[in-house]
Amino acid sequence: MPHDSSDLAQHLEEFERETSAATDRASWEQLRLKWLGRKRGIVRDLLSRLGSIEPERRKSFGQAVNRLKNAVETRVQELDDELTARERAASRQSAAVDVSLPGRPPAVGTVHPVSLVVREIVEIFAGLGFSVAEGPEVEDDFHNFEALNFPEDHPAREEQDTLFLEDGRLLRTHTSPVQIRTMLDREPPIRVICPGRVYRKDNDLTHSPMFHQVEGLAVGRGITFGDLKGTLEAFIHRLFSRETGVRLRPSYFPFTEPSAEVDITCPFCSGRGCRVCSETGWMEILGAGMVNPRVLQHCGIDPAIYTGFAFGLGIDRVAMIRFGIPNIRLLFDSDERLLRQVRG
Ligand code: PHE
Repeated sequence: MPHDSSDLAQHLEEFERETSAATDRASWEQLRLKWLGRKRGIVRDLLSRLGSIEPERRKSFGQAVNRLKNAVETRVQELDDELTARERAASRQSAAVDVSLPGRPPAVGTVHPVSLVVREIVEIFAGLGFSVAEGPEVEDDFHNFEALNFPEDHPAREEQDTLFLEDGRLLRTHTSPVQIRTMLDREPPIRVICPGRVYRKDNDLTHSPMFHQVEGLAVGRGITFGDLKGTLEAFIHRLFSRETGVRLRPSYFPFTEPSAEVDITCPFCSGRGCRVCSETGWMEILGAGMVNPRVLQHCGIDPAIYTGFAFGLGIDRVAMIRFGIPNIRLLFDSDERLLRQVRG
């Protein structure tokens, strides 16, 4: 058994040789046990012999064993660090992105069906010389009712339809107040199209308390009911199809005279009659008429010189027809599945 410093030097050499073979966890563990093991480790073994060494050599032997012990411990720790770093790198590697996998497409947003229809309508009317005008959703009685010739006791003013604010203002019940704002603002000739949200106390399968309308207004010299009919037909044929039938039924609005409700042949059955059109073959999509002279007067436009037509269209209705959406609520639930299905 080695009992002097030169033997210890041999130990050190042997240890060095073995470290180069310790390239994985198992061989490192073996190395550590062999040299630093508490029971049979070489260092421990050497230390335990100190007592049996002649006193005059004991000191130098002890020092040499300590040097060996320190060198072995340091190196074993270094090897441990190296192995740990390599193990970490390997596990990072295996968890890393597999570049051969097909990519995940990013979620792409879509344009809401209502916005799609608005865009289309605005584009069609742009081609007919109309520009877009907008107005506030919070309105006052004058613009929403009074200037539009609603009598004081008209049922639409009552709370059952209109959503009032505490200060007496209201959420506009239709886009017609934008007509008033435009006529107060501009001189004829006027040709505007006014898309926007409107509000009514209404909530069932076919009514939502918030919905969308597009208002149209043309004011100028010599504008006739024939112009209204021709404009609406051109519009409906572009929006639906050339084959779509258009019919006007007499109706009443305080702000137009004469007034009409406009039906189109049911796009689902081409007018033959089906469940969607309640077997009538027709669907109502518009209210329209010649601007009531009293409305022109309210806005400082002389009805002896100018005439005009106006119409209002429910956009949600058109979107439901266009995309086959059975329930108006689906339009406002923001369910991604609907939004993904409906693409322009
Ligand atoms: N404002 C009417 C409504 O909401 C629609 C309409 C507009 C009718 C313009 C005629 C002229 O029902």
